[in-house]
Amino acid sequence: MQAVLLTRYGAPSTLSLQTIARPELRPNDLLVRLRAAALNPIDLKLRQGYLRLLIRNRLPHVLGLDGAGDVVAVGKKVRDFQVGDAVFFSPDHKRFGSYAQYIAVDQRFVARKPENLDYRQAASLPLCALTAHDALAVTADLRGKRVLLNVGSGGVGTLAIQLAKQRGANVTASCSTRTRSLVERLGADTLFDYRTDTLDNHPPFDLAIDMLGHPARRALFKRINRGGAIASLVSGVPEAVERTGLYRGTLSAIAGLVADWWRARRRGIRFHNVVRKADGRTLAKIAELAAREQLKPVIDRVFPLAEVAEAHAYLQSGRAQGKVLLEIP
Ligand SMILES: NC(=O)c1ccc[n+]([C@@H]2O[C@H](COP(=O)([O-])OP(=O)(O)OC[C@H]3O[C@@H](n4cnc5c(N)ncnc54)[C@H](OP(=O)(O)O)[C@@H]3O)[C@@H](O)[C@H]2O)c1
Repeated sequence: MQAVLLTRYGAPSTLSLQTIARPELRPNDLLVRLRAAALNPIDLKLRQGYLRLLIRNRLPHVLGLDGAGDVVAVGKKVRDFQVGDAVFFSPDHKRFGSYAQYIAVDQRFVARKPENLDYRQAASLPLCALTAHDALAVTADLRGKRVLLNVGSGGVGTLAIQLAKQRGANVTASCSTRTRSLVERLGADTLFDYRTDTLDNHPPFDLAIDMLGHPARRALFKRINRGGAIASLVSGVPEAVERTGLYRGTLSAIAGLVADWWRARRRGIRFHNVVRKADGRTLAKIAELAAREQLKPVIDRVFPLAEVAEAHAYLQSGRAQGKVLLEIP
């Protein structure tokens, strides 16, 4: 099969399209013929080797934590899926590889593709929708609560706006003049132009979803109501590793998260470092929302698999509005 292999850590050019053997099927696996895969910022960090103390995966390996395609074989313990099912999925960090024509993925991480979505749209959802779901779940009842998304226009933010509105929250989403109309269209109640506005101009929030990390995260602590929460999606590990090296950087980022937990506690708020949970059951609920058009995919660009280096460079520019996808031949 054709697959994009990461053979050494580094720039986007380290990714190369190669012909390799199809993955082997374990008893709980589905073998999926992929049609589309999505890029995520974590792919860039894995490519650069910044997470290699935390996510151990021997080189060479295939990147990719989001995909959609058709089941072509099932392991002997699989009961809920069969050959021919159209599915979408986000595997966990232990075994991934959706930048390829085939992937073996544990059935626990898979759900049926909503019929109204094409493969690209379906592949754009899993990791970001699960992340948005897990971050919003930090607050049990969001009805009438003020929620801040400090990035409204990226892969996670565009879905988090929609999911938070569904759960009855009042949503403030950060954007720029370039992304304003997208964020408005997705249903944000208040727009926060991060280039010109300041959080002090807004009433405090009950929940902030932090997608920027430090230094922006520091300003959030003062703007959360007592009893409220910060759900941060950013560990700070890649940035710290870049600054001070693999071991020191990884440890200092973890120490920084503990410090933020204490800082929050002293202010009577909660701090959670959210790492999305790969979960096919939650994904099935996301599929239902998408089927009812209550959750709409937002796709920025689609690149052919062979242009994966360009796709990585584009996502790395930090300017994508919604998702960047790979079309699998
Ligand atoms: N913990 C987890 O499980 C998990 C899962 C998924 C993602 N994440 C993390 O969550 C973060 C967001 O991911 P993503 O996929 O949504 O990112 P993304 O798609 O790469 O975000 C791109 C968007 O960010 C906007 N942006 C850039 N700088 C900004 C700023 N200072 N303030 C507000 N908006 C800004 C850009 O709009 P402009 O062009 O207008 O600036 C662009 O539309 C990343 O750090 C990612 O690593 C964590």
